[in-house]
Amino acid sequence: MKKAIIASLSVACLAMGSCSGNKDNALQLNKNNIDEIVNAMTLEEKSLLLVGIGMPGMSGTETVVGETDMIIPGAAGVTNAIPRLGIPSIVLADGPAGLRIKPTRENDSKTYYCTAFPVGVCLAASWNKQLVEQTGEAIGNEVREYGCDILLAPGTNIQRNPLCGRNYEYYSEDPILSGMTAAAYIKGVQKMGVGTSIKHFALNNQETNRSYMDSRASERAKREIYYKPFEIAIKEAKPWTVMSSYNYIDGVYASQNPTLLQDVLRGEWGYKGLVMTDWFGGDNGAANIQSGNDLIMPGSDDRRVQIIEAYKKGELSDEALNASVKRTLELIVKCPTFNGYQYSNNPDLKAHAQISRNNACEGIVLLKNNDNTLPITSKSKNIALFGITSYCYNSGGIGSGDVNEAYTVDLLEGMKNAGFNLDTKLAKKYQDSVKEQTEKYDKEHAGKNDAIFAKFTPKDFAINGNEIEGYALSNELAIITLGRMSGEFADRHISEFYLKEEEKNLINQVSETFHKNNKKVVVVLNICGAMETASWRDKVDAILVPWLGGQEGGNAVADVLSGKVNPSGKLPMTFYKDYFDTPGAKNFPYDKIADAKSMFGDKAVNRDSIENYDYTIYSEDIFVGYRGLEKEGKEAAYPFGYGLSYTTFQIEDLKVERKKTKVIIKVTIKNSGDFPGKEVAQLFVTSPHAEKHPLRELLDYQKTDKLIAGQSQELTFDIDFDRLSCWDEELHSSTMDIGEYTFQVGDKKVKIKL
Ligand code: GLC
Repeated sequence: MKKAIIASLSVACLAMGSCSGNKDNALQLNKNNIDEIVNAMTLEEKSLLLVGIGMPGMSGTETVVGETDMIIPGAAGVTNAIPRLGIPSIVLADGPAGLRIKPTRENDSKTYYCTAFPVGVCLAASWNKQLVEQTGEAIGNEVREYGCDILLAPGTNIQRNPLCGRNYEYYSEDPILSGMTAAAYIKGVQKMGVGTSIKHFALNNQETNRSYMDSRASERAKREIYYKPFEIAIKEAKPWTVMSSYNYIDGVYASQNPTLLQDVLRGEWGYKGLVMTDWFGGDNGAANIQSGNDLIMPGSDDRRVQIIEAYKKGELSDEALNASVKRTLELIVKCPTFNGYQYSNNPDLKAHAQISRNNACEGIVLLKNNDNTLPITSKSKNIALFGITSYCYNSGGIGSGDVNEAYTVDLLEGMKNAGFNLDTKLAKKYQDSVKEQTEKYDKEHAGKNDAIFAKFTPKDFAINGNEIEGYALSNELAIITLGRMSGEFADRHISEFYLKEEEKNLINQVSETFHKNNKKVVVVLNICGAMETASWRDKVDAILVPWLGGQEGGNAVADVLSGKVNPSGKLPMTFYKDYFDTPGAKNFPYDKIADAKSMFGDKAVNRDSIENYDYTIYSEDIFVGYRGLEKEGKEAAYPFGYGLSYTTFQIEDLKVERKKTKVIIKVTIKNSGDFPGKEVAQLFVTSPHAEKHPLRELLDYQKTDKLIAGQSQELTFDIDFDRLSCWDEELHSSTMDIGEYTFQVGDKKVKIKL
């Protein structure tokens, strides 16, 4: 029976894929006859619609990112067409930092490069909702103009632990910053008439064994931390789709979890859009549909067979099946493909590169700037650029979140473009090493086609003391770039959190020698996530964090180093003094060697076998990141929300006023320095009954315009009481404590009884 169904479906699927619509058939899909179409569809057609066209050669038991050559080469996945009813295929493509499609096509002289924008964590570090929305618009434009329909973004999982491989794609340890950044991004993309897929819903906070591991958290932690970013973004921006996550949640696959997808997502939050699996997520097509996961991507015959067989046995209800078919058709009729949009294949990449550069600047965080080391005012200064990453700059991360961009501006090029004089002897030394290491890497990886699983990151090397002495004499300033890379399929090993031996030596030697010659040292962190800084920051004069800033990354860093742009980024996560200060540090696979294949561990027979591999207990509960660190009375190396400017700001005039069911908070921010700049007003709240809450929690934020010296700006926050509520485990609902609330912006606090 099973073989026969597969055979007939495959033939049907291929036939439908190739034949044109039955022109004389009166019934063709339109925005107003979806119910009629649902009723006219056969069971086979329904199963085809709900399961994607598949990825040839992939069965779902191996490491995968979506890639098909159907319709738009390089897009992540395609749905099946049902030509008889005028239902077209739609195209789903990655990813959060920009559209990912193949940049070249066979027998086609045109190229299809996309813009690599700053990655998620860099966008979040801008704390600028308008800027994030603008980035979303530019990405959405490329999605539309290259013929795709749904962008598989934003990635919105909480950075529960600094070593999660996909933190670069995500936004923050904080649910409010994550949710509001995601909402702005979604609004921007969808303004272009294409859809998004907020992902990965939910509790997908590690890559190790991601397809089989069980995330175990309290209901309060789910509600207040892990679901919260999705709730904020879904209610505020209405993403066309949601992508369920690979992992189990308390023993049930997220993509087969009616509590998550029906009760919470649709029942409580009122979500009307479509839910799709992650690629090969889950293991049963009927359970996917019955649980409210409408679309199964990239699709495989076995999932179709499971749907048909379960329906015939009465294990999959008509109601669930038709609800998913209806939501899929409701999605399709919104898409550019269905509406015959004539895409140009010619988005304005030049304009988008400028947007990418501007946005990368706003995500740059200045952690240290002793004696105004920065900005580098005089262009005549000779600069010694150390650190191999300066010459092989990381624009993005690993996996489906990477972009096939036409170029990346490294730091050397960016500094030259800004008119700086870089030490050519030192540059050549590093460039020769990059060349040598690249050749070796390419030879080792010849024919492996594993670029999506790993990125070449050259190793730093020792430079002898006499040479450094020479550089200190012939240059006015030293810049050292350190790199950290990570991505999908593997988490970072704990060793990645700390300096490597060669990095320690480089910082020690360069600092000692340059300081001895009264020259200063700047460190640039071209990194995918938080790392250790406390042990070495006193040795250097300034520290800048540009993250993975997209294809214009080197220009953006030069814009800030030169003072063309005043840095205004703030940390979206805590920089801990030590890895083990991380709340829940031991409840994470921090000691497993990163390996793309480890993502696909063994499908554990029972998921109680290996801790942090088969299951992970979210032991810190709601006390994630700064919420936990401050509760424990520990200090960060650099706290959540921290970031310096070339000017200073004063928080003035913070006041709160109660309205019926909300409070209005007004704050005035003044540029008290002499350099134009932007400041972020981060509104924190301290709730009554402190024993059950973090000491403070982010409630909202706004960024000022660029204020000139002496200029002030008033910002207003409109906070409904339901945003002050917390999850009550007994009541299984949100409640608001009565008592005294403290609101804080910067060093100013106001209290009010509510
Ligand atoms: C992946 C990722 C998901 C991506 C999808 C398609 O494995 O988890 O983020 O959108 O496959 O490439």
